[in-house]
Amino acid sequence: MLNTADENRRRHDLHPDHPVWLFGYGSLIYKADFPYLARRPASISGWVRRFWQGSHDHRGTPDKPGRVVTLIEAPGMVCAGMAYRITPDVFEHLDHREKNGYLRVTTPLSFADGQHEQGLVYIATADNAAFLGEASEPQIADHIAASHGPSGSNAEYLLQLAEALRQLDVVDEHVFHIEHYLLRACD
Ligand code: BEZ
Repeated sequence: MLNTADENRRRHDLHPDHPVWLFGYGSLIYKADFPYLARRPASISGWVRRFWQGSHDHRGTPDKPGRVVTLIEAPGMVCAGMAYRITPDVFEHLDHREKNGYLRVTTPLSFADGQHEQGLVYIATADNAAFLGEASEPQIADHIAASHGPSGSNAEYLLQLAEALRQLDVVDEHVFHIEHYLLRACD
């Protein structure tokens, strides 16, 4: 299986005493299992959230990977999520948790009050070995309905993400359409 944890450690020379902003757009929105100094709704421009990354270690298995979100470049679009102010030691935990293809990338973040900051975001690009790529939203819903892994069902991941986005008043049609198809299949 892929392991991007070492590459992430090499890529960023962060000063241990200097907190950074981390932008979360997937499970980081609803699963903050790490210490943080502040937490603020935020967005990044030029990206969209897509269920195009394989999960071999959390919501699927090496033989039957699930589908989780990554960011895909989309000029003019905005992806909303949650930003966390963290100390760099927290990346020890997060790089391990998100080791299946995600690399940390520097990005400008915008907060609701118009303030901007530099931050980091985990992105799994199309050239990583766990990337599954595009499929129709009904196909993605079927795939998610059939996938389970050590962290639980893939359906739970989707439903928790959709609920967390609603709590933030964020409309993400890709996520909500897939949720709709998944729930319809369960009726
Ligand atoms: C996130 O929620 O931002 C996230 C998504 C995938 C991997 C790591 C973090």
